[in-house]
Amino acid sequence: MRPTQAAFPATRHRRLRQGPALRAMVSETTLSPADLIWPLFVCDGDGVTQPIASMPGVVRRSVDQIVVTAREAQALGIPAICLFPYTDPALKTDACEEAWNPDNLANRAIRAVKATVPDLAIMTDVALDPYNANGHDGIVRDGQILNDESVEALVKMALAQAASGADILGPSDMMDGRIGAMRTALETAGHQNVTILSYAAKYASAFYGPFRDAVGASGALTGDKKTYQMDPANTDEALRLIERDLSEGADMVMVKPGIAYLDICHRVKQTFGAPTFAYQVSGEYAMIEAAAANGWIDGDAVMMESMMAFKRAGCDGVLTYFAHRIAKALS
Ligand code: PBG
Repeated sequence: MRPTQAAFPATRHRRLRQGPALRAMVSETTLSPADLIWPLFVCDGDGVTQPIASMPGVVRRSVDQIVVTAREAQALGIPAICLFPYTDPALKTDACEEAWNPDNLANRAIRAVKATVPDLAIMTDVALDPYNANGHDGIVRDGQILNDESVEALVKMALAQAASGADILGPSDMMDGRIGAMRTALETAGHQNVTILSYAAKYASAFYGPFRDAVGASGALTGDKKTYQMDPANTDEALRLIERDLSEGADMVMVKPGIAYLDICHRVKQTFGAPTFAYQVSGEYAMIEAAAANGWIDGDAVMMESMMAFKRAGCDGVLTYFAHRIAKALS
């Protein structure tokens, strides 16, 4: 129960806000670089950094540059990076074989980072879209996204990532049954310590637009992802999906997108008490950067305030393209 407050003027809420020292003492939420996961885009080549038009300030990096950036992440106290490959369109097929090629771009990047920065945690994306001729996260036949065939492919992809040294697998595909299938396969293959951060409550969102440019999937995508990603109208369904993924062996769960879904983050954390993450996605990043570039908002202040909002809602951490900038601001 709340203690009763004395009436004004005995209680003056502004007393505790009068200066930075008192405000710091009573701050209910704190930020740390340990709250951050930094998503990075990987491309072919050597010494390459390519700008992404719809995400100003974000670049694709060749594997050698990913290694440099991984060192930077570690120096900033960021505990994990998340790798997303930009796959050569010539390697995209309907069966998505490149997804479990041990030498695909993502797996080569994992090995290179592990060899130089072994203590940095590496997260992956487990979904077929970068490798799929039609841009979907699952196998498509006759216009249908096939669940069980997709899970088989995703398991092969997950095992290849684990064998390359990934610490955290991030299934973002939203097929049914994939967490259990991956967990069983990992146990059987001797990867007992590989963790799964399930994109459990992932919505069919227009906020992903710039990301699809970044990984070169927007040109390929036919139709939308509404038969597997969630309807933005739903809340209870998110709880059922989180519960399902935890029961199948997910170690951590994610809500995605971020800022527009803080009610979901809050309810998930309150209900399950499991490690809960949010993804501040590409469109959220692009909106803040675009307004800042026009001088309409103070971009750095909005960046920090949005991070605070995730933590206040109950998130244990956030995947954000601002990770390095937030970590620098905190140091
Ligand atoms: C692919 C995937 C997407 C994102 C992360 N993994 C795009 C999608 O589902 O279409 C979005 C990330 C972002 O927008 O920053 N499965």
